Amino acid sequence: MQRRNFLRISGGGFVAAATLGTAALTGCAPAMPDAAVEAWRGPAPDLASSDVRRWLLSYAILAPHSHNLQSWIVDLGTPNEILLRCDLKRLLPQTDPLSRQIMMSHGTFLELLDLAAKERGLRADITLFPEGSFGPEQLDTRPVARIHLTPDPSLPKDPLFAQILLRHTNRNSYDLSRTVPATAWQAMASSITPHALRFGHVGLEQTQLLASHRNTAAQAWHIELTTPRTIMESYDVLRVGANEIAQHRDGLSLLDAKVVWLNRLGLFDRSKAPAPDDFATTSQITAFGQKLDSTPGFLWMVSEGNDRVTQVNSGRAYARVQLAATALGLVMQPLSQALQEYAEQKVPYADIHTLVGASRPRETVQMWARVGYAPAASPSPRRRLQDFIRT
Ligand SMILES: Cc1cc2nc3c(=O)[nH]c(=O)nc-3n(C[C@H](O)[C@H](O)[C@H](O)COP(=O)(O)O)c2cc1C
Repeated sequence: MQRRNFLRISGGGFVAAATLGTAALTGCAPAMPDAAVEAWRGPAPDLASSDVRRWLLSYAILAPHSHNLQSWIVDLGTPNEILLRCDLKRLLPQTDPLSRQIMMSHGTFLELLDLAAKERGLRADITLFPEGSFGPEQLDTRPVARIHLTPDPSLPKDPLFAQILLRHTNRNSYDLSRTVPATAWQAMASSITPHALRFGHVGLEQTQLLASHRNTAAQAWHIELTTPRTIMESYDVLRVGANEIAQHRDGLSLLDAKVVWLNRLGLFDRSKAPAPDDFATTSQITAFGQKLDSTPGFLWMVSEGNDRVTQVNSGRAYARVQLAATALGLVMQPLSQALQEYAEQKVPYADIHTLVGASRPRETVQMWARVGYAPAASPSPRRRLQDFIRT
């Protein structure tokens, strides 16, 4: 019976399990396997003299992607061109039923590719959906973008390129004593150009509005954690310990020593969602609440319309904002739960749109993120460059 209870506690409760004070399970904190994060050292030296497209792609694959799914497939069959498709096996049908975030995650890839092209004196002419756009509900095998590369020495380099290797999503607690300065918000807002999104923010000076943002984020997180099919989607891509991380090099990495030991002992059950009142769920809600309470600011990005081109361009804009923030020593973490289009999120979805003054259905909140100062986050894994190339 005791063991069954223990299993219930550990079942899916990766953050909770990390807090179980079982001395016998503590040990050296396992490290991120070097190979899984080698991409963050930049292009391999031999790529400098090889096909420039591989050099550009070494930067593009460092783009942020929802759940770190890395759903990018590139075809290099035509000289001077890159054809980008979506890997339809890497979607999030429960939490991202319309694949809006997947399209944004292709936008982030294209933005980094474009910055890298400029760095090499190349103009990247990007044609979105060259064989026609996907419908509003489903993706298919048609390309997301055709990128044609042409030498153009007159093209200015973009200083955001220098931030690509330094940018990381940061899920730590932030420093509540440090307000995000007005100049930093301004720099983030300006970085969106040329993409047509409305940028907004709230900081420590607007106590009530800040509290509303924290509340909505907490409610949405609660829903995601207590809806079995949505939390299971995260568990499906949860990689526990160095071996799983090295094997997959994608998804959500978990290196906490205690959880890794529970997993090794076969006591970490990821086959079913914990109940809403399980410690596994309640402790994660508490932990996330503490992180929200430590957050001195939130940003949002709102689009007119919500077609596939708009979604890709929203991803491009988000990549620019995060790189601009990185240059200023700021960190951020997207908060996608309230923006997700599944039925259970209806109330937080309406709340966040109201909070940021986005009028439905004309406008859509494409990105919402917590922003602040925090200890550096570790880099997340990336698959090998070769794994993305089909031709
Ligand atoms: C469209 C989009 C939505 C995201 N939503 C979340 C989120 O809700 N919570 C979170 O912690 N990270 C979120 N992320 C960040 C990804 O999880 C992150 O980019 C990925 O794990 C890779 O890590 P990196 O950004 O440090 O390279 C999102 C990223 C994108 C592009």
